Amino acid sequence: MSYTELAKQKFEELRNKDNVLILSVESSCDETAIALVENGRKVLTNIVSSQIEIHKLFGGVVPEVASRNHIKNIVDVLQEAISTSGKTLEDVDAIAVTYGAGLVGALLVGVNFAKTLAYALKKPLIAVSHVHGHIGANYISHAELTPPFLCLMVSGGHTALVDVQDYCKFNMIGTTVDDSVGECFDKVARVLGLSYPGGPNIDRLAKVGKDVVKFNYKSPLKDTYNFSFSGLKTAVVNYVHNKQQKGEEYSKEDIACSFQELATDELCLKTFHACENLGCKKLVIAGGVGANSRLREKLSNKAKESGVEVFMPDIKYCTDNGAMIGSIAYFYIKAGIGLADLSLTAKPTVNI
Ligand code: KG4
Ligand code: ZN
Repeated sequence: MSYTELAKQKFEELRNKDNVLILSVESSCDETAIALVENGRKVLTNIVSSQIEIHKLFGGVVPEVASRNHIKNIVDVLQEAISTSGKTLEDVDAIAVTYGAGLVGALLVGVNFAKTLAYALKKPLIAVSHVHGHIGANYISHAELTPPFLCLMVSGGHTALVDVQDYCKFNMIGTTVDDSVGECFDKVARVLGLSYPGGPNIDRLAKVGKDVVKFNYKSPLKDTYNFSFSGLKTAVVNYVHNKQQKGEEYSKEDIACSFQELATDELCLKTFHACENLGCKKLVIAGGVGANSRLREKLSNKAKESGVEVFMPDIKYCTDNGAMIGSIAYFYIKAGIGLADLSLTAKPTVNI
């Protein structure tokens, strides 16, 4: 029997199997990550090898450097994942991998590695969307969470409101018309001289700053679920450049705080506007910016006021990791989707 036929047969068997163990690979940006996840919710191991220290030197992710480091690290990450999971490669039922969205060269390392594993071990290969993976992170952190719900997806690559009708039924109701909110955090951090990745540094600085800085900015999009962050980014960058050109002093802490207030207000406003209009009582947060302490605080407070139940991943599952890919891959299998063959390749963008 050919690999493709065998994989199809095993995939069908998994749809009815009680215990499904998935080995998942994530390499879409600068984290080389492999996890073992049981039944979509139980993480046996989650190894993340971060390249942050390398990319910090360049002020952001250099795609070529990211690909090379994935190649360098991925075998060690697999060995560590297996040795800490208490399982063997033979115990694994399927290999899942992020095929997009992300940096093509970086994705290709994970995709080819996963294809090789799947072929050598004769296991089905599951092609997973990175965006769906971020949503899956919530099933790990909240054993009781089930769809339907509204998801606020906030990462370096995406800013969107997604109506999650079922585990594998996604309907995007709003997205950014320009920059993602993560990109905005990273650019503001850069102009303030903070190191990559900017989001956590803005978060830290904002805690000791005051919301007193007035930028030349007005929220541009009203009465829509779409977002726009390039105006806010430009307003902050212009403010700082202006101060620098005039040789005037400015407080990085206050700028971080005032910027963060505006960015998180925008996210909260649109999210609860959508919750109200759609009559949604369950809200889920996903993606790296979901780690932002002020965003988490505001969403929790507003949710309490509005009688909405809010779910957020544990901080370690907000940013890129392998476990979130293994989680959603389980639900793909149960829904009968995602089976890939050895022609699988990387995609820089994917539809939500
Ligand atoms: O989800 P993620 O790890 O990668 C993408 O899929 O893009 O998100 C990365 C983004 C970066 O822009 C990073 O600065 C931001 O998430 N981020 C944060 C925080 N932690 C990470 N932004 C604001 N506050 C944080 N605490
Ligand atoms: Zn991500």
